[in-house]
Amino acid sequence: MTAANENRVWIDGCFDFTHHGHAGAILQARRTINPDPLYHGWLVCGVHNDQAIAHHKGTQPVMNQRERYEHTRANKWCNQVVEDAPYVTQPAWLDRYCCLYVVHGDDVTLDANGENCYREVMQQGRFRVVKRTAGVSTTEIIHRMLNAHSDSGNTSTAFNAMPPLEKLEAYSSDSTGYNKHCYVFKHDLNHELVKGGYPFDSDACLFVIGDLDLFHMGHIEKLKSLASSNRKLIVSIQLHPHSIMTLNEIALSVLSCRYVDGVVLDATPQFCDSLSPQVVSLDTMKGGPSFGYLTKQTIVERILNNRQEYTERNKRKGLT
Ligand code: CTP
Repeated sequence: MTAANENRVWIDGCFDFTHHGHAGAILQARRTINPDPLYHGWLVCGVHNDQAIAHHKGTQPVMNQRERYEHTRANKWCNQVVEDAPYVTQPAWLDRYCCLYVVHGDDVTLDANGENCYREVMQQGRFRVVKRTAGVSTTEIIHRMLNAHSDSGNTSTAFNAMPPLEKLEAYSSDSTGYNKHCYVFKHDLNHELVKGGYPFDSDACLFVIGDLDLFHMGHIEKLKSLASSNRKLIVSIQLHPHSIMTLNEIALSVLSCRYVDGVVLDATPQFCDSLSPQVVSLDTMKGGPSFGYLTKQTIVERILNNRQEYTERNKRKGLT
């Protein structure tokens, strides 16, 4: 077996909702590794099971372990998912996967006893900190669902704001986190925001439309089946009525998915109509065999059916 080396890195977490903040940490972890193919960089993502999360955090995750494992696997910067990863990260566990160090966002994660989950790897100097993505967390997403009817909804300009170019460029990268891959367009194919890493030919693309709010495994399973057509998948992202996630959040989540080759942000209706022979709607496509049950509605119901429990959870975390 290979000895632990700096080209193999470990990141772990709950990855509940597997949102773009988690993707940002995974991307930053990947970027600590040399992108040269000669180095065979390998990022291992350890995902905790439902039981461990319930024990250490005191509440079950909203998305179950199967959903979280597969969503993390669909992240293009992740080379391997380790299921049932221990909540407290021990050096022996890193050695088992030949990883030299762990990467984690700049927040402290405590176990059920109130102790730092990374204390042992920190003592060995095998812990690296990256910047957490501001403004998104599982707690925040739950808060939006609990308050969906009282908030101003997605009419605010903040919901429709274009993601910063620097973020779009980073999330458009290929599996090394450095080279170009995805194209990003605004409104239609005439307005290119980010140039991708392959020659763009619209005839060789499949354009995907649909409501991608809460981007989840129901969407990803469909994208995976479309990706097998060998055409480049260009996903049109528009906010739909009562979107929970912003345009920025949906775009970054979609770009971090390994099956996606480009996005069109805030596409015009004329643009979508003009593409008709090459357009596939995720909304009308039959659900996949494993996650066909998963929709935005089923996820929102998980929260609303347990309103009391989630309200108390969020209060403990300072959000009412
Ligand atoms: N992370 C991040 N930015 C966020 C949320 C999480 O960079 N907005 C990072 C964490 O620091 C960690 C990894 O993503 O390195 C996995 O996080 P997770 O264990 O899921 O923990 P939480 O911090 O609880 O994430 P959340 O609050 O969204 O549940």
